[in-house]
Amino acid sequence: ALVSMRQLLDHAAEYSYGLPAFNVNNLEQMRAIMEAADKVDAPVIVQASAGARKYAGAPFLRHLILAAVEEFPHIPVVMHQDHGTSPAVCQRSIQLGFSSVMMDGSLGEDGKTPTDYDYNVAVTRRVVDMAHACGVSVEGEIGCLGSLETGMAGEEDGIGAEGTLDHSQLLTDPEEAARFVKDTGVDALAIAIGTSHGAYKFTRPPTGDILAISRIKEIHARIPNTHLVMHGSSSVPQEWLKVINEFGGDMPETYGVPVEEIVEGIKHGVRKVNIDTDLRLASTGAVRRFLAQNKSEFDPRKYLKETITAMRDICIDRYQAFGAAGQA
Ligand code: G3H
Ligand code: 13P
Ligand code: NA
Ligand code: ZN
Repeated sequence: ALVSMRQLLDHAAEYSYGLPAFNVNNLEQMRAIMEAADKVDAPVIVQASAGARKYAGAPFLRHLILAAVEEFPHIPVVMHQDHGTSPAVCQRSIQLGFSSVMMDGSLGEDGKTPTDYDYNVAVTRRVVDMAHACGVSVEGEIGCLGSLETGMAGEEDGIGAEGTLDHSQLLTDPEEAARFVKDTGVDALAIAIGTSHGAYKFTRPPTGDILAISRIKEIHARIPNTHLVMHGSSSVPQEWLKVINEFGGDMPETYGVPVEEIVEGIKHGVRKVNIDTDLRLASTGAVRRFLAQNKSEFDPRKYLKETITAMRDICIDRYQAFGAAGQA
């Protein structure tokens, strides 16, 4: 059944677990997420970005998620809009039937320019008023995702600040977070702790100076009843990088957020963990390997099936590691 995010996150907080929120663009990702959730009995958050709507088209995307609800009626599913850049975007998603929206007012409507506190509160508050009147949950964001190593936001395309950010923007301030929650009434709060979107998060396995799990603890101590959200939470599996490079790819050395660090965050109020890149890496690795090893195959179902299996294994692993398995 389609449920609001608030419902799932309240349950996650009560039973001290975290929920992975996987991005979805196509049938294979949707199947991988649902088959994994079905196997381990986990509740599901699927999220669609503006890029996903552009790729699949809004009606296809909407019905893809509704099809999952129909095929797996026993699994609670949140249909979440990722990184809405304006109240108008969030309003359209609510009209489309999304049960949760993110108003990312930390950046302007271009998804690139950092904004000030008052702008962020104004747009987020507007979305909260609108969404709550429809029983839809709202995620807000305070602070900007980006690397503490370089000050850069990460991915070139998609959502992320342009240019360099300073240290104070890259780490959410606990006092400001508390004020923001009070001023907006959001159901969940995305925070910045040194992660960024995409595959190039860290040039070395992250230590506390570049991945500030300690900041999560400080924020949680200040606002213990707020559900925290970690963006840019892909772990960038080294085994998939290896497969990609072994079968014709060319990706430089790079590191993501270790699963055990996310688990530490979950002990301190993190309830939603956004993951997109890991499924992209597994999918690409699976296709490259299959096509390299089966050079006369031309039926897309053959290699796309490999992507479902690869993505499903990652989903199962995250549901289990975050404690969401058995909670559906
Ligand atoms: O916001 C980041 C997610 O990974 C979505 O990426 O905008 O390329 O769909 P996208
Ligand atoms: P990754 O790029 O680390 O998978 O993060 C995804 C995300 O935060 C989507 O909002
Ligand atoms: Na989101
Ligand atoms: Zn994000």
